Amino acid sequence: MKKLEDYVRSIPDFPEEGIIFRDVTSILQDKDGLRMAIDKIQEELAQVDFDLVLGPESRGFIFGVPVAYNLNKPFIPVRKKGKLPCETVEMEYDLEYGTAVIEMHKDAIQPGQKVVIIDDLIATGGTIEAITKLVRKLGGEVIKIVFLMELEGLCGREKLKDYDVVSVIKYEGK
Ligand code: PRP
Ligand code: MG
Repeated sequence: MKKLEDYVRSIPDFPEEGIIFRDVTSILQDKDGLRMAIDKIQEELAQVDFDLVLGPESRGFIFGVPVAYNLNKPFIPVRKKGKLPCETVEMEYDLEYGTAVIEMHKDAIQPGQKVVIIDDLIATGGTIEAITKLVRKLGGEVIKIVFLMELEGLCGREKLKDYDVVSVIKYEGK
């Protein structure tokens, strides 16, 4: 039987030399790969008591929504700046070249709510670190963070030391 890893297409030197791009489209375009990915993320949350799932645009939506739906929880989208119509909170974070800003609706989390964050990948950890700050700003508590894949060579986990972080597939390199 195929493992989830077998569905990930790896593209060397993309988007730049030395980086191996781990492609989720090859998981998604196979019905068994898609099911396995959602199931594995969900298994990590089976014993977790939480109120809502939060995921960043855009690949975080793909994996976050089905898990939230299956576990009967709401889903909170975190979007790139300028997309959300109501009052937002925002946070800047570092990209390799320059910075980016993400935001979420101010009323998306109520104080005291327990939040699970789901994304496809942790690389430098910058995106999710920024999201944890937004959750705290709104009075929420990050209970667990689940990634489908982790690039251990980039040490992104160090930015998330205060949290319970799991990844389904770990790659030693970057
Ligand atoms: C990618 C990936 C993660 C993030 C990981 O998203 O989907 O969200 O980068 O990188 P980090 O750990 O260094 O922050 P990207 O911003 O490329 O956007 P996308 O999901 O819309 O493709
Ligand atoms: Mg992303």
